[in-house]
Amino acid sequence: MVELLPSILSADFAHLADEVAAAERGGGTVIHVDVMDGHFVPNITLGPPVVRSLRKATSLPLDCHLMIDNPNDYIPAFAEAGANWIGVHYEACPHLHRTIELIQNHGMHPGVVLNPATRVDVLLDILPMLHHVLIMSVNPGFGGQNFIPFSLDKIRRLAEIRQELGLAFRIEVDGGVAHDTIAQVVKAGADLLVAGSAVFSNGSAEQNARELLAVAKIASGEA
Ligand code: DX5
Ligand code: ZN
Repeated sequence: MVELLPSILSADFAHLADEVAAAERGGGTVIHVDVMDGHFVPNITLGPPVVRSLRKATSLPLDCHLMIDNPNDYIPAFAEAGANWIGVHYEACPHLHRTIELIQNHGMHPGVVLNPATRVDVLLDILPMLHHVLIMSVNPGFGGQNFIPFSLDKIRRLAEIRQELGLAFRIEVDGGVAHDTIAQVVKAGADLLVAGSAVFSNGSAEQNARELLAVAKIASGEA
């Protein structure tokens, strides 16, 4: 089943509860929360206090995408704030197995995120432990960038591996997912679709989410 994950990075931070509610009315089922530290990526966003506020504003799962160095140091704080899914970057985790265990031990679903230049095969051994793999289809750090076309090959490769190994992890895609790219992303095999600017930057978030999801469901054969 395909799901739409509105990314609040492009929302109005002064009205987050309303923005999230609108995206939920439009069919968003998981809220994607972009955490940036100004080191791993060249931008700074938000941390556990905002997650704590979001937790009160919605009952939807909160998918925290940690674009930070030393994520192990912050995983307990995100758990306490009410995060449900944690995605850590492969490129930021020299001891990835330990990090995944830490996320699990804090009662959250672990995911690993791959930058555009990191190939999916590096995850082969760790895949059975993962709830989701997030393929970045832009270089992380900013909303509103263009979708990198070869990400589609990576999604296809990952879907193939999932099938071959008989695993059930979800395939998430983040970056440049919009009205003109979402169908291809779904056809390549992704089922968790993150969209920031396509939901929040222009017009009604509710309407934008509804339209994106409609296109995704047609592409997946669910509609
Ligand atoms: C980028 C973030 C994304 C961002 C996507 O580093 O990880 O989640 O919000 O924004 P769009 O959908 O505008 O490309
Ligand atoms: Zn993200």
